[in-house]
Amino acid sequence: MKRIKALLYSLMGAALMTACTAPSAQTSTTAASSDAEVIERVIMARRSIRQYTDRTLSRDTLQQILLCGINAPNGQNRQAYELRVVDNPQLLQEISDAVASDTEVRMRRGASTIFAGAPCVVFIARETTYDISAIDCGLLGENLILKAWSMGIGSCCMAGPTRQMMQSKACTPYLERLGFSPDYELLYCITLGYPAESPEAKPRKYEEKIRFVE
Ligand SMILES: Cc1cc2nc3c(=O)[nH]c(=O)nc-3n(C[C@H](O)[C@H](O)[C@H](O)COP(=O)(O)O)c2cc1C
Repeated sequence: MKRIKALLYSLMGAALMTACTAPSAQTSTTAASSDAEVIERVIMARRSIRQYTDRTLSRDTLQQILLCGINAPNGQNRQAYELRVVDNPQLLQEISDAVASDTEVRMRRGASTIFAGAPCVVFIARETTYDISAIDCGLLGENLILKAWSMGIGSCCMAGPTRQMMQSKACTPYLERLGFSPDYELLYCITLGYPAESPEAKPRKYEEKIRFVE
């Protein structure tokens, strides 16, 4: 009899505990699914933006974007990247002019700079002594791009302009001015600004590129 009573009490206790924990479990499930919806919406709606309005980005807004950038996963938490943010249009114009003075550049129609006329450019360098540092750089870039998009800010990941900067002799002083540490080399940049275009999504080759392996 004692055993039956004990079993009954433990069943009642378990039922009570379930009743108490159920709402919070439900709440976290709801929160999780709404996070999932928001993230999917931002990821799927994002497009590369190559035309910007004149509206400038505040430093506070930039800080929020950059903070999300560097919170991306990275190898061994070594953070094998350095970022330099240029939000001075005159400096961006000077860099672009220097590159154009000794390198063949194809500027986008209507764009004043090799950075598609963006009001802000984040230059990203990788640590050369760490073989997979480019992965860290790429992941931080996507975080930053998605955070920006969620705030109504457009961006474009660009490797063309930075490749040209590295090839241009006239750009050397500007590379020095960016001031990356000795073991770092410029890898790519991300332009940022308020969008003045809304491009269509470019199709992805899902069936061709992704395969489940049994
Ligand atoms: C590593 C990398 C380098 C890129 N370099 C350039 C570039 O130099 N110039 C440019 O206009 N777009 C550049 N892009 C943007 C791609 O062209 C763009 O992401 C792609 O066409 C898909 O379009 P979406 O971003 O709108 O989905 C680059 C993207 C990546 C990931």
